[in-house]
Amino acid sequence: MQRRHLSTFFIFVFGALGGLLFGFDTGIISGASPLIEANFNLNVEQTGFIVSSVLIGSSIGALSIGSLSDKYGRKKLLLLASILFIIGSAAAMFAQGFISMIIARIILGFAVGSASALTPAYLAELADAPHRGSLGTMFQLMITLGILLAYASNLGFLHHNLLGLRDWRWMLGSALIPSVILFVGSIVLPESPRYLVEKGKIDEARDVLHGLRAGTGEDPDKELSDIQEIANQPKGGLKELVTFARPAVIVAVCLMFLQQLVGINSIIYFLPQVFIKGFGFAESDAIWISVGIGVVNFLCTLLAYKIMDKFNRKTILLFGSIVMTIAIGTLSVLNFTLSVKQAAVPTMILIAVYIFGFAVSWGPICWLMIGEIFPLNVRGVGTSIGSAANWIGNFIVSQFFLVLLAAFNNNVGGPFAVFAFFAFISIFFVIYMVPETRGKTLEEIELEMRAKSKTKATTNQSN
Ligand code: BGC
Repeated sequence: MQRRHLSTFFIFVFGALGGLLFGFDTGIISGASPLIEANFNLNVEQTGFIVSSVLIGSSIGALSIGSLSDKYGRKKLLLLASILFIIGSAAAMFAQGFISMIIARIILGFAVGSASALTPAYLAELADAPHRGSLGTMFQLMITLGILLAYASNLGFLHHNLLGLRDWRWMLGSALIPSVILFVGSIVLPESPRYLVEKGKIDEARDVLHGLRAGTGEDPDKELSDIQEIANQPKGGLKELVTFARPAVIVAVCLMFLQQLVGINSIIYFLPQVFIKGFGFAESDAIWISVGIGVVNFLCTLLAYKIMDKFNRKTILLFGSIVMTIAIGTLSVLNFTLSVKQAAVPTMILIAVYIFGFAVSWGPICWLMIGEIFPLNVRGVGTSIGSAANWIGNFIVSQFFLVLLAAFNNNVGGPFAVFAFFAFISIFFVIYMVPETRGKTLEEIELEMRAKSKTKATTNQSN
């Protein structure tokens, strides 16, 4: 069978391509929006809406895709997402005005949201337990690569009106390339073996597992029988999300909200504006600041990819929370105590430290964990809920950041004090609520959760 010849690395890279489009479509607009604004004569509110419409589409896309992926499989829906990416990217490239651009951005958002709900579960279900951390981190690595490519595309196409098409049209249209690659990838990628077992397609699942585990020294038949055992458990359907899987829902939603509330996208989307407004940087420096952030973000995520299976997830999260709290807490204090001129360089350094803290921990682990902590039966819906929480959190922070910055007279110390507060809260959340998933198979994680809920029920009954 052809899929046996696909290398595991190829499968994970292509499987994670949705992350690249996620990063690209959210990152590209910072450079393209001023150009679109001028070209279409838009006001600030309209431009703001072009930026945030992707986030609205993503929340809806993330929420609606989960139950479909439990029903029709991860692969078919990845294919659907890739088609939406192609349609959305082409529609954005050729948009003729505000309304058509908004429609294109909402379609793209829908695709991004779907990919962000599908990919974590898909990667987790394909990976073997010892490497699931790194393989799942591939999604975040692709996100950061997508952001970096978006900045590169902004730089490359700015002021180049090729073949009679404006620069911003090429910027948005360049997303067509990874979209088509994802489309082809989704045709040749294998379906998730866990989904196949859940649907009773045991032979196909065995075939996929033998292909994936060839040469890894792992026993695909033992894995298959463990998955079968889980698939044969009595099922409560969606009700499971409010019964024994409720802790997973709470952890997923809180992880995702906190990931956004520590303010990462105030930096990814708005940092150039912060430096222009707050520290008097020239407009022309803005794109280089973005590129610098993109490079640090990508390289630190590469480090995360290397270490993810060497330390417990909780240890890494805790490390990230502490680094972020110290970095942006100090940044906030400095910006309230030093002059603007004195604060500029330390702020840049502290932001780099903060990105390091985020990129090695909360960036990848939140996406990794939402693929790990839900039971097989409702994994698609569970990751949907987690992913939607991320997009809603993202929308809230993006809407309020500039307002908050203005409220503090463009002093970044203000918004960053709020983010530092949430980074501090995240320390306790990790210590008291996050489960450890490293080194366990998805089936072991699920059995543990079921056992815990049984013990709880028995204790409650005997009290
Ligand atoms: C977050 C995105 C963010 C990106 C930055 C992701 O994990 O969900 O909102 O833009 O990391 O690298």
